[in-house]
Amino acid sequence: MTFSIVDERLGVRFACAPDDVVLRAGLRAGLPLAYECNAGGCGSCKFDLVAGEVADLWPEAPGLGERDRRRGRRLACQSRPLGDCSIRMIGRGEPADAPLPQRRTAVLAGTRDLAPDMRLFRFRGGGAAAFRPGQYALLSLPGVEGPRAYSMSNLANAEGDWEFIVRRVPGGRATGALFALPPGGGVAIDGPYGRAFLRTETRPVVCIAGGSGLSPMIGIARGLDAANAAGTASLDFFQGGRSAQDICGEPLLRALPRLGSRLRFHASVSGEDPLWQGRTGMIHELLADLPDSAFAEADFYLAGPPPMAEAVVALLSRAKGVPAERIRYDRFF
Ligand SMILES: Cc1cc2nc3c(=O)[nH]c(=O)nc-3n(C[C@H](O)[C@H](O)[C@H](O)COP(=O)(O)OP(=O)(O)OC[C@H]3O[C@@H](n4cnc5c(N)ncnc54)[C@H](O)[C@@H]3O)c2cc1C
Ligand code: FES
Repeated sequence: MTFSIVDERLGVRFACAPDDVVLRAGLRAGLPLAYECNAGGCGSCKFDLVAGEVADLWPEAPGLGERDRRRGRRLACQSRPLGDCSIRMIGRGEPADAPLPQRRTAVLAGTRDLAPDMRLFRFRGGGAAAFRPGQYALLSLPGVEGPRAYSMSNLANAEGDWEFIVRRVPGGRATGALFALPPGGGVAIDGPYGRAFLRTETRPVVCIAGGSGLSPMIGIARGLDAANAAGTASLDFFQGGRSAQDICGEPLLRALPRLGSRLRFHASVSGEDPLWQGRTGMIHELLADLPDSAFAEADFYLAGPPPMAEAVVALLSRAKGVPAERIRYDRFF
């Protein structure tokens, strides 16, 4: 059984399984619905419920403000239909130009510690892993309410491998369960999602990773390296962390076979750390290292905590005049 959802704004009808949410059912159908985080944080997926009933999976989700709640607005990523519905999405989305998201189960096939609280997890299962470099998937973990978004650090592959670099959050429910998962432990993976994926492989690229934002930026670097066999594009990779041990991305990048001297790594530590000899400060301050030609020509990709992403986007668009279509980001709510 499926329910029928009509979006009066787009003038489309799509099916939604009773255990799915409005946003993801629409994206599975290839519709250009507005969204970013899939996690109740950004508010991009707001809609008005015109007819029918939905269950609100996370009534306190920060993506809805008081005013939205008073107006009866909902989040499509947190709304499970209880029957047929008519909705009106508020925002405008982009056409689907990545593989359509699907649900599968996978098992933990391997881990590697990159830093004391950063671990690479490799899951395998569910047929070929189809996604674009820099996209994310939703992981449902045993005993944890609601899925969590994690970005792939690897590339699409026929073996069905999904790799994620995850930062352990003190007291975090999903990261606690993930870091305790035994080899062979099962998870549900739903994806791919996200629009901040590698768009062209021939222009210069700048990646900016704040904290746990390393994972998708490594995915983008791998995508650029794999596609750019002719050797024209360059990569400036910025990593920011709170202490020296957070700056763990360079060995992964230096292992890429093709970029060679066209890869430049820049790092900054924001906290006091006697072990750190390099630059200090917030990562967006380091962007001043780039020549003016980079702001004029490069594509910018960034991921990390919302304040970091917002500071970088403000600098790029307001101070440096980089047009919106050359800036792609995921804020990790
Ligand atoms: C697009 C995107 C990509 C991300 N990629 C990565 C990545 O590659 N690596 C990484 O380390 N982190 C990533 N994150 C952050 C990650 O999703 C988690 O927020 C983080 O790991 C903390 O989860 P936790 O459960 O351990 O912490 P907790 O503090 O227990 O939970 C924090 C988050 O869980 C969500 N949440 C809380 N309650 C609910 C609920 N009832 N239903 C649904 N959601 C709820 C909220 O988003 C909240 O911010 C990403 C986030 C987003 C939005
Ligand atoms: S996509 Fe629903 S709140 Fe971000």
